[in-house]
Amino acid sequence: MQTLTSVDALRRAVNKARKAGKTIGFVPTMGNLHEGHLQLLRRAKHLADCVVVSIFVNPLQFGANEDLDAYPRTLAADKEKLFAEGANFLFAPTVDAMYPEGMKPQTLVSVPRITDTLCGAARPGHFTGVATVVTKLFNMVQPDVAVFGEKDFQQLMVIRKMVGDMCMPIDIVSVATVRETDGLAMSSRNNFLSSKERRVAPRLH
Ligand code: PAF
Repeated sequence: MQTLTSVDALRRAVNKARKAGKTIGFVPTMGNLHEGHLQLLRRAKHLADCVVVSIFVNPLQFGANEDLDAYPRTLAADKEKLFAEGANFLFAPTVDAMYPEGMKPQTLVSVPRITDTLCGAARPGHFTGVATVVTKLFNMVQPDVAVFGEKDFQQLMVIRKMVGDMCMPIDIVSVATVRETDGLAMSSRNNFLSSKERRVAPRLH
């Protein structure tokens, strides 16, 4: 597995694979990988010859009072898991590589209506941040197929709508939610739950 941190290096590596006749699968993540992410990677490996996984905690999708600084960053452990599962490329860019002009006003991708409800209503700007970074990542990787978890179901719908509206030539494939034995969906944010919240959370399932 090759780890790439610049957009140029990523493009060179993916182009080389494509010229060798390989199809490209893509799994975008924010890292702190658990079994749910690994299932996405396994599906991508099944669907494409060469798989790129990205790890990037995207500042644009976090609100002012959200958990950007506290979000778990575990790159060394993540790399070991990806290597063991046979990912071909890990793209782990810095914030500067993704946003060379910083976080000042820039072109955004905004998906209407579907982002107004549920999580979108509680987190204004969140899905615009997601759609914008996923568009950038898609333009960088140019995958044939990209795999997303059904855990973030509204996000999956937003990505499908964006890909359809913008005529992006990418198959979007979803994978069922992976759960703990008591039914709680696996998530990097489960560690933020208090013991009381952790006890009641499986009732959602
Ligand atoms: O689901 C996630 O981990 C993120 O929202 C994504 C799709 C990687 C975009 O930052």
